[in-house]
Amino acid sequence: MARSGIGPNNVVGVVPTMGGLHEGHLALVDAARSECSVVIVTIFVNPMQFGPSEDFENYPRELEDDSRMLVQRGVDLLFAPSVDEMYPNGRDHHSVVMLPHLTGVLCGRNRPGHFDGVATVVSKLFNIVQPNTAYLGQKDWQQLTIIRAMVRDLDFPLRVVGVPTVRDSRGLALSSRNNYLSVDERAKAPLLYTELARLRDRVLQGEVKYTELESQACKALEDDGFTPDYISVRESHTLKVANSHSKNRRVFGAALLGKARLIDNLAIDS
Ligand code: PAJ
Repeated sequence: MARSGIGPNNVVGVVPTMGGLHEGHLALVDAARSECSVVIVTIFVNPMQFGPSEDFENYPRELEDDSRMLVQRGVDLLFAPSVDEMYPNGRDHHSVVMLPHLTGVLCGRNRPGHFDGVATVVSKLFNIVQPNTAYLGQKDWQQLTIIRAMVRDLDFPLRVVGVPTVRDSRGLALSSRNNYLSVDERAKAPLLYTELARLRDRVLQGEVKYTELESQACKALEDDGFTPDYISVRESHTLKVANSHSKNRRVFGAALLGKARLIDNLAIDS
């Protein structure tokens, strides 16, 4: 899929993905296309970031459709390595990048090792591709925060851009895992966004008992058939629990609906 040569004045942008591409991923591609002379997309379903009972085997793999979309969006190069290429000695004999101060909370609490797998594969992809800029989605805010910290702490010579979340008309954040939802579940799925937005508005109206608001949101989701993992008001950049004196507050949520684990987050302070 090579289109242009990589010369000394070119800015290389990378969009790391696991494929099953949708308009959320393509917003990252468009952002890269508008800023970079060379755009590289990676597709790799990374076994190291899936737990033993998670959906590694069933994760959508649609390389042909994906690469067609990427050609249409003007991507220069697709890097889609095999598991053997990325982990030739197996994942148990591989170095691991860890950021324990950011990975033990929110999604990391019930997905031990998940973010170690993410940080490790993204650091490998950065070293292989050698981009000037990397584009990641704000939908996975904790992941974005971890990658930003990794880039800063380990001196990767690149800039990280966080692209706003792409949603459907009812507010549901687009996700490859939305494909797991039945028709009924799909109709309910936007409630995660609705509850986060309601909580954000109540915080902005001056309510200060965040734990109460979080419990009420969990209860509302349970009543609608979700199994909430967490609803939590945190500081955007540290991911620490926020209070009414915090700046840069953000509300995070994760919940199971049928077979799909849905996550979302919204800024409270602009
Ligand atoms: P994946 O879930 O495929 O997502 C790839 C990128 O697309 C991530 O940066 C994610 O935040 C972004 N993204 C997904 N849905 C989005 C939406 N609705 N709006 C905006 N951006 C969205 O995240 C991963 O893959 C992996 O963990 C990866 C970083 C590739 C490492 O394996």
